[in-house]
Amino acid sequence: MPIDITIGLQWGDEGKGRIVDLLAARADVVARYNGGDNAGHTVTVGSHIFKLHLIPSGIIHPHTFCVMGSGMVVNPLVFLSETASLREAGVPISPARLAISHAAHLITPAHRLLDGAQETALGGGRIGTTGRGIGPAYTDKAARTGLRAGDLLHPLTFQQKLTAHLESVSQKLIVLYKQPGINIEQMAVDFSEKALQLAPYICDTGALLRQRLHNGQKVLVEGAQGTLLDLDHGTYPYVTSATTTAPGVLTGLGLGMQSKSRVIGVVKAFQSRVGEGPFITELHDELAARLRGTGENPWDEYGTTTGRPRRVGWLDCVLLHYAVAINGVSELVITKLDILSGLPVIRICAGYHYKGGDYNELPAGLSVEEMGEYQPLYQEMPGWQQDLTMVRRWEDLPIEAQAYILKIEAICGVPVRMISVGPEREQIIYRQ
Ligand code: IMP
Repeated sequence: MPIDITIGLQWGDEGKGRIVDLLAARADVVARYNGGDNAGHTVTVGSHIFKLHLIPSGIIHPHTFCVMGSGMVVNPLVFLSETASLREAGVPISPARLAISHAAHLITPAHRLLDGAQETALGGGRIGTTGRGIGPAYTDKAARTGLRAGDLLHPLTFQQKLTAHLESVSQKLIVLYKQPGINIEQMAVDFSEKALQLAPYICDTGALLRQRLHNGQKVLVEGAQGTLLDLDHGTYPYVTSATTTAPGVLTGLGLGMQSKSRVIGVVKAFQSRVGEGPFITELHDELAARLRGTGENPWDEYGTTTGRPRRVGWLDCVLLHYAVAINGVSELVITKLDILSGLPVIRICAGYHYKGGDYNELPAGLSVEEMGEYQPLYQEMPGWQQDLTMVRRWEDLPIEAQAYILKIEAICGVPVRMISVGPEREQIIYRQ
């Protein structure tokens, strides 16, 4: 049985949570393979707004089994508070429908302290991280000193590893960052008391997924962050510390190369970014304020995790074309088309001017230094004035909105299958 993979094609915040929620209705298993609680997936069901950071948003459907794969970094404290609020909202949570990979790494409060100290030390050169300890936890993983979820199944050795980890971070805080050290005993007691509660959820999720696929079950993969935040293929160093692209799904879940997949690329109708780093089509005027929204609505452009206002700009189709290529995207989903209603003209970046030449693909790769020199080449398209939030059929979209979608399709060379025109489940246009 093939797997369906949803991937963000920009800098995160494309509205993947909402699309996963729709696709999960027809999936047996929903799995996350990367990142941690730096993600923010908002799903609106009637009057209830779910904001999930760590647990796959597919959990909201009562029939799904959810997996948190080996490529993830899991903060047990966030896991417990998220499961508590899901239960409060009437979503059943138990090991019968949620599993954590024994090979996923743990984020401790010490990782979060280190994340903050590192950012402070970087000053003007900071990454603008979410402060959730993501980078330090992946650093420990690569250094082979990390704490894994499977360690929780061996409480005695877990205590030893935890103490060694806290001592090491405390030293770094004091010596490298001139910050107060950690109260190691207290943090060890508080953290392990909570973390050990995760034990019933921990298993070999790779084996579990392979078995379920073998049994013909449908697996939906929920990507976190976006392609341009990928550690290898994003705007390094202004990236997250994980693989955010589709090829990482296999290692992040423990699946083999034979797992056939449909790669659903999710892209917002304009560009947004939270945190530092290059942004070629960024807008700073009242148009930016208009695209961002006031922050009163949960779908306005303010970080779900940190509340920071997002930087916004015109859709960059050069970057989108790149994202489609490196993910092997088979179809596109465009979100938030309704937000562009009312603009007299819409611009779309279809190329860059660089060192005297014009290019419709990245002329010198995705390096931060080169990107500083890329000038956007815009194509202008007429806007539309109609409110799109009630539109449910392609034929009912204004001709200008159809032209905008067709232009994106033509540049990327893949079909647009879904278009969202609002946060509710039914505010979606399906296209064959
Ligand atoms: P970190 O993942 O917290 O280390 O942050 C690294 C960069 O990725 C920062 O620019 C963050 O703003 C960005 N980032 C991380 N997760 C997300 C997300 O889910 N959406 C948007 N940006 C994110």
